[in-house]
Amino acid sequence: MAKNANLGAAKNAKNDEFYTQYADIQKEVNAYIEYNPDVFRGKTILLPCDDPEWSNFTKFFAQNFEFFGLKKLISTSYAIESKKYKTDWQPTLFETENPLYNVEKSRIKGKIFTLTHDTNNSGRIDIDDLQWSYLEGDGDFRSAEVTALRDEADIIITNPPFSLFREFMAWVMEGKKQFAVIGNMNAITYKEVFPLIKDNKLWLGTTDVRWFYQESTDSPLYEAAHSRWFTNIDHGMRHKPLQLMSMADNLKFNKKLKGLTEYQHYDNYDAIEIPFTEVIPNDYDGIMGVPISFLDKYCPEQFEIIGNEYDLNLSKGRGYVNGKRCYGRVFIRKK
Ligand SMILES: C[S@@+](CC[C@H](N)C(=O)[O-])C[C@H]1O[C@@H](n2cnc3c(N)ncnc32)[C@H](O)[C@@H]1O
Repeated sequence: MAKNANLGAAKNAKNDEFYTQYADIQKEVNAYIEYNPDVFRGKTILLPCDDPEWSNFTKFFAQNFEFFGLKKLISTSYAIESKKYKTDWQPTLFETENPLYNVEKSRIKGKIFTLTHDTNNSGRIDIDDLQWSYLEGDGDFRSAEVTALRDEADIIITNPPFSLFREFMAWVMEGKKQFAVIGNMNAITYKEVFPLIKDNKLWLGTTDVRWFYQESTDSPLYEAAHSRWFTNIDHGMRHKPLQLMSMADNLKFNKKLKGLTEYQHYDNYDAIEIPFTEVIPNDYDGIMGVPISFLDKYCPEQFEIIGNEYDLNLSKGRGYVNGKRCYGRVFIRKK
């Protein structure tokens, strides 16, 4: 038991050190820009839980600083001594060859990088204009100094430590900022997350994230559990209504309902069971239990989310149809 707990803790610590590919950041951010080209104009972006010397988040936003019309970019890192997953880390040449380098601080302090203007008179603002210093503390996002940076920022973007996802989301929401944060798909059902989805205060982004670097952006890619962007930045996909058929047509023509003469009703809740998003009828006004993957297609102008099995307190904690349990359902109603 203790051995399993240790193994679990080691795995969690390692999962906290997954780094995001440039293309994954680009794909998602492009969807926000496509929907609103001025989404970042005049804004301060904070990238916490980063490793700015080589993070693709810092690289991506620094390279696009002028194109996005940013006012300020801030990224912060977490001190190597504070990380739970230990590696044979060495400071980068960027750090050791800089006059600010301090051998003691290097291991125990976080760092802050900021970008606001053309510091090297190159005629453009880019990654070479980043200014850095050590933080007072270790860069923990919960610290007062990183929280003050959150409060200064308009938008918070990162892939936070896997093991602190709930805490990180609570910290972001408390700041009442715009955000785009990578998290495991399972986080949809967390009690800290689902109510926000239901109230349209948080939604899924447009792309999947599956392959991460481990330990550094030079390391091989690792396929991690299915991750998604959790955001409150608007994008076009969430305003595209699903094209659906009537109940009668689905029962007649949709192969996914083969063998059924009518939609089934839950035993323990006044709703019909929808086994696949594609078979949601466009002419049913009552409540429907749909698979959680529906949230990828959720258009708030088309449907209202009523709740999930947990917050609706369904008897036995689950929806049942003819005594058979239906897993991971979200209950919705046509608008
Ligand atoms: C999943 S990695 C992602 C890094 C980077 N944002 C990226 O996507 O490439 C999460 C980072 O947060 C750091 N971290 C862990 N606990 C932290 C904390 N309490 N405060 C700030 N950063 C933390 C980890 O050491 C790691 O560098």
